[in-house]
Amino acid sequence: MVNNIKELPAILLIDIHKSYGVNESKVDALKNINLEIAKGEFLALCGPSGSGKSTLLNILSGIDKPSAGSTIFLDKALNDLNENQLSFIRSKHLGFIFQFFNLIPVLSAFDNVYYPLILNGNYNKKEAKERSLYYLDSVGISHLGNRKPGQLSGGQQQRVAIARALAHNPEVVVADEPTGNLDLATGEAFLDLLMKINEETKTTFIVSTHSTQLKDRAKRVIEIKDGELVYDSAQ
Ligand SMILES: Nc1ncnc2c1ncn2[C@@H]1O[C@H](COP(=O)(O)OP(=O)(O)OP(=O)(O)O)[C@@H](O)[C@H]1O
Ligand SMILES: [Mg+2]
Repeated sequence: MVNNIKELPAILLIDIHKSYGVNESKVDALKNINLEIAKGEFLALCGPSGSGKSTLLNILSGIDKPSAGSTIFLDKALNDLNENQLSFIRSKHLGFIFQFFNLIPVLSAFDNVYYPLILNGNYNKKEAKERSLYYLDSVGISHLGNRKPGQLSGGQQQRVAIARALAHNPEVVVADEPTGNLDLATGEAFLDLLMKINEETKTTFIVSTHSTQLKDRAKRVIEIKDGELVYDSAQ
């Protein structure tokens, strides 16, 4: 029997619009976005400040809802789900590295990685501890595990956020300018790590960036300008 069923994409966006505010203060942050991202892709999302990158990442990962259009995330139509269902899906299948980290200030760096693993329900304490240490080590800061976010530099906090996003082995990792606070060498090492994980596990990566470092290395590059998709290297 010939298997001609095409594998479903990791993410499918259909006619997405997003606006903020009303009347004179209305901002059309995204206009008519159609995008298919296959499982295992490594996609760089480029565009100037204010072009809609963070808005697009938040919508495709179910953190925010579009004003119009549909989001399919790993075969699930996100529009149909309530907040509890969305947060369940995100905790299992998504790793999100926020532009401004979103670490929990009262927890140590280690606990910021460890507790989500425990809450996620897939790992026992021993496994969660091992995974937290492994990922903190892989971004070079396992020795700072006892410090709270306020006692870490911006780049170090970003590395904790990276470890947290990867530690539960998600199918989709979304990162919003993850190298923005890292020096060139650390940024390069970080990209090496993401690409290694992408190669080995076929995890899908969607990474927004201003940096040419990433644009030059990503398998697919898309560009957004004033809320519109203006370039796709795959087309
Ligand atoms: N909560 C909000 N309320 C009103 N306008 C918003 C809101 N969030 C974003 N915007 C506007 O939507 C547009 C897109 O913003 P977005 O944060 O997605 O841009 P970006 O490409 O991520 O920019 P940067 O590179 O600076 O992070 C901008 O004009 C911004 O001012
Ligand atoms: Mg942004």
